[in-house]
Amino acid sequence: MPESLPEAGLGESSVLDLLAPMVIGGARRLGDETAFAHMDPPTPWITWAMTFWNAALNQNLLHPDVSPIARQIEDRLIRWLAPSYGMTGGHMTPGSTVSNLTALWAARESMGVDRVVASKAAHLSVAKSAHILGLEFLEVEVNDIGQIRFSALPQDLSTSALVLTAGTTSAGAIDDLAIRTNAAWTHIDAAWAGPLRLSGAYRDSLNGIESADSVAISAHKWFYQPKDSGLIFFRDATAAHAAISFGGAYLAVPNVGVLGSRSANAIPLFATLLAWGRTGLEQHIDAAMHSADKLTRFLQSRSGVQVYAPNTSGVILWRAEGQVGANEIVRRLPAGAASLTTVEESAWVRHVAANPNVNIEALTEAIESALSQGIPAQD
Ligand SMILES: Cc1ncc(COP(=O)(O)O)c(C=O)c1O
Repeated sequence: MPESLPEAGLGESSVLDLLAPMVIGGARRLGDETAFAHMDPPTPWITWAMTFWNAALNQNLLHPDVSPIARQIEDRLIRWLAPSYGMTGGHMTPGSTVSNLTALWAARESMGVDRVVASKAAHLSVAKSAHILGLEFLEVEVNDIGQIRFSALPQDLSTSALVLTAGTTSAGAIDDLAIRTNAAWTHIDAAWAGPLRLSGAYRDSLNGIESADSVAISAHKWFYQPKDSGLIFFRDATAAHAAISFGGAYLAVPNVGVLGSRSANAIPLFATLLAWGRTGLEQHIDAAMHSADKLTRFLQSRSGVQVYAPNTSGVILWRAEGQVGANEIVRRLPAGAASLTTVEESAWVRHVAANPNVNIEALTEAIESALSQGIPAQD
C-alpha cells in the first residue's frame, strides 16, 4: 500500500489487481465452516448485485427528485415489516446505534423525557445516545441470565424513556418485553433478535414488543444484509417523524431523522425479502437457532464446561470451569470461531449463530481440541 496519496493514478484495472489479494484475500470469511463469533453474517449474493446497482446509481434519499423509486421501495419495505412489531412506520438507518439515537431523540422531543433507563447489559449506544441528547442515564441490574431485573427499576418512570433489549450484545438475553411500567416512552432495542418475530417458532419470544413506542433493528445482523443497514420503527410514525424533522431552503421535503444524505440501503433488504419471502427468512433464523441449540447441547454434555444460559437468540456463552481461561480458548480456536466477552467481570467464550454455512461438528471438534490442550503455564 502506498504510504502517501499517489500523485499519478495507477488506473482502475491495475488497482483491481493490486487490491483483490489484499482486500479479498486478507478479509475474515464470515461464511467459513467454523465462523461463529460475531453478529455479522455472510450476505446473500442478491445483496451484492443490489449494492453494485446502488453504488452505480448513487441515489440520495434526502432528495425525492433524485431517488424516486428508491424512496418508494423503502416505504414499501417499512410497510411490509412494521406491522410484525405493532408499529405503523419508520425509516432506514445505517444501523441500530443510529436507530437507538433516533428513537430516544423522538422520545425527548415528543414526551419531554429527561432520563434514559436501561439494563447493565444494554448496548453502549444507549448510554451514548443519552449522552448526546443531554439526558440522564440510569443503568439497572440484570438477573442471572442477563435480563433486566424488573424489581430494580425505579417506581416512577413518568419522565423516563425505558429501553428494553431483545438480544443483548454479550449474551443474547431477551428482556421481558411485556412488562408494564408508567414509562413516558418504551423503546425496544431489537438490533439482534428482532428478526425472530418473523419466525413462527420463535415469534412469541418477543411478545410485548407491539406495545412499545419504538423498535430498532440492525438489518446487517439477522436480516443478512451488508452494512450499513438498520431500521427504526415507531408506533405513531407520523407524530414521531414530525418530532424529528427539519426543513431547509434547499429541501423539497423535510429531512426526517439523524442523517442528511443517505443511501438506498432498503433496496438490498427489499430484494432479499422478495427473493426469500418470509418463509425463506424464517428458514434462515430457524436454522441458526438449531445450530445454536446443537452447540449448547454439546457444551452442556461436556464435563468441566459451564454454559451461561439456555439459547434464546442464538448467542451462546461458555467457559471451562477452573481450567483454561476463556481468552486462551478463543486463541486456540480457529480465527472467527468465537469471540471473548465479559459478563459481571468474568470472561466467557461467545458464539453467535449468524452463519448459515456453519458446520457444528467441525466447530465442536475444534472446541474439543482446544479443551484437550490442557492448562498453559501462564493461565
Ligand atoms: C443490542 C444491540 N444494540 C445496538 C447495537 C448497535 O448496532 P449497530 O452495530 O448496527 O449500530 C448492537 C450491536 O451489536 C447490539 O447488539
